[in-house]
Amino acid sequence: MMSARHFLSMMDYTPDELVGMIRRGIELKDLRNRGVLFEPLRGRVLAMIFEKSSTRTRVSFEAGMIQLGGQAIFLSPRDTQLGRGEPIADGARVMSRMVDAVMIRTFAHSNLIEFAANSRVPVINGLSDDLHPCQLLADMQTFLEHRGSIKGKTVAWIGDGNNMCNSYIEAAIQFDFKLRVACPEGYEPNPQFLALAGDRVTLTRDPREAVRGAHLISTDVWTSMGQEEEAAKRIALFKPFQVTRELLELAAEDVLFMHCLPAHRGEEISEDLLDDARSVAWDQAENRLHAQKALLEFLVAPAYQPA
Ligand code: CP
Ligand code: NVA
Repeated sequence: MMSARHFLSMMDYTPDELVGMIRRGIELKDLRNRGVLFEPLRGRVLAMIFEKSSTRTRVSFEAGMIQLGGQAIFLSPRDTQLGRGEPIADGARVMSRMVDAVMIRTFAHSNLIEFAANSRVPVINGLSDDLHPCQLLADMQTFLEHRGSIKGKTVAWIGDGNNMCNSYIEAAIQFDFKLRVACPEGYEPNPQFLALAGDRVTLTRDPREAVRGAHLISTDVWTSMGQEEEAAKRIALFKPFQVTRELLELAAEDVLFMHCLPAHRGEEISEDLLDDARSVAWDQAENRLHAQKALLEFLVAPAYQPA
């Protein structure tokens, strides 16, 4: 009964499945743009557990379920027994008897693994301290829409070797692109992911070296959720890693810039970067909706048959 497929990491699917999902995201976007109602998940329910704040993840999953004909339930640890110490496994057993899928945004990645191990229904990683795979579905969809296949291209990750960076490493493996990570010493991505990627991923301390000839440049906040007490130290240390229009000049002529958002203008990006023609951050944010609808369609059983 614990055989449901989950989406905890980009490695949970084959490259073909991932590309298929992204293509489906583009189709679902087109359906919505044409005003076509498509409700395969009528009567289906997604539970969303948020232990950290969110704008994009919450709105895209909630709107996505409604657009597919289903519903989503927002749960914060302040209001559930999980927040009062009920074991994760018990919460998973109970919730997964009532809903059709569960999305979780949490701190330790092991919370997701434990929940999934005890869940009858698919569990989706809405961001953990280690990974943010849903964001990569949107990023890969956005690249495909603007530039075609990312296979064989060069991507530069500038800044913190955080959950987003780890997911970029997984994406480099699955979508077969080269990734250059420029980060300060001591802020490297997880060595386990690096080892998995082999020579597809290289590390440097120099953002200029990382972006030279790159087709995609991506960055993220310097202080992730849960690290707030380190913010001042990080701002000082990460200063040379700010992404600016000038830095983009060193990249390929058709380079795209992405940021998963929220952005801190004046920190990881210059004040004007999101307004630059090379930035596709708003398309990228919108694609959270479409890519995740494709994910939900893939994971959640189709509508009930008429009685
Ligand atoms: N990019 C992203 O996951 O944004 P939220 O934190 O607003 O969900
Ligand atoms: N690295 C950031 C991503 C936010 C979407 C964080 O974990 O806070």
